[in-house]
Amino acid sequence: MAKYRIAVLPGDGTGPEVMAEGLKVLSAAARKAGFTYDTETYDFGGERYLRTGETLPDSALAEFRSFDAIYLAAIGHPDVKPGILERGILLKIRFELDQYINLRPVKLYPNVYTPLRDKTERDIDFVVVRENCGGLYRGKGTVMNEGTPDEVATQEMIYTRHEVDRCLRYAFQYTRKRNKKKALTLCGKTNVLTYVYGLWERAFHEMGARDFPDIKRDYAHVDALVMWMVKNPEWFDVIVTSNMFGDIITDLGAIIQGGMGIAAGANINPEGTSMFEPIGGSAPKYAGQGIINPLACILAGHLMLDHLGESVGAALIENAVIRFLASGRLKGLSAAEIKGSGLTAAKIGDAVAGYVASA
Ligand code: IPM
Ligand code: MN
Repeated sequence: MAKYRIAVLPGDGTGPEVMAEGLKVLSAAARKAGFTYDTETYDFGGERYLRTGETLPDSALAEFRSFDAIYLAAIGHPDVKPGILERGILLKIRFELDQYINLRPVKLYPNVYTPLRDKTERDIDFVVVRENCGGLYRGKGTVMNEGTPDEVATQEMIYTRHEVDRCLRYAFQYTRKRNKKKALTLCGKTNVLTYVYGLWERAFHEMGARDFPDIKRDYAHVDALVMWMVKNPEWFDVIVTSNMFGDIITDLGAIIQGGMGIAAGANINPEGTSMFEPIGGSAPKYAGQGIINPLACILAGHLMLDHLGESVGAALIENAVIRFLASGRLKGLSAAEIKGSGLTAAKIGDAVAGYVASA
């Protein structure tokens, strides 16, 4: 029987509340699918930072490398200046563990409200592969004459062929494995940012023609692509893009699949330790009320099992979420709607875990 070691980071705000439900459903899936795991919980986040001044020590990074996966709920605290926890914890884990793929499925589940008129579950089902360790997020920046009328600021976007190639390779392989439309769209901006996206485009077509002749290739400028995500989401199968564009288009993706209550993502190092998280933040104003939506965190668990090769457990979780949503007990995904449905995070977790157990 496979046994895993999972590092758990509940984090801040509503993070611990959704993590409790994620772990509840994970344990139901383990019993049913026949694998076991140990968890170790870490308290990194805003509270600890305010108490100790420490974000994430290098010793923790070394420990993380020894786990099979990291399960993270949410980092972010209203009393901590923006940037400190993002750079000091979340991005530090992504970068230092070289989780160079950010995989974000955009999938509309039954009974979930999408703001796209006339679009249904059949139309919204694609995956974004976002490069997760390079580009604008990693380039140097400078500021001169700060605060004066002569201020000059720079922020560089750098990509190496190696970084681009490894991301593209993952995206092509993922498209093949997904085995749906077998179509990969590169999202860039070759008409203006000719150097960087020129590199992406050349690498994309060279690799595709050479190693993935079975995958259809398509290119779209990012500004056009966001229009099509809204107008014709059914066109897409897998989209691959750079870090910054991926950050932006996956928030659009999240809202067309129902919002932050349901959107999950995976930070993947195909050769190392990967991290799984709901895309949303710590929602401090709802903390402690028990009405935050745990489905995104539960679905991050589904992505984690899928990545670990526990395909039975992964499918159990996703199908349980689908059955719960299809039951119509939930009137909507927001905290107010959860309250209005007479539900709580814990009741949702119980229901989903129940569907796993009875599958
Ligand atoms: C995300 C978030 C992060 C990002 C922030 C919190 C640093 O927006 O996971 O998309 O920009 O990558
Ligand atoms: Mn983002």
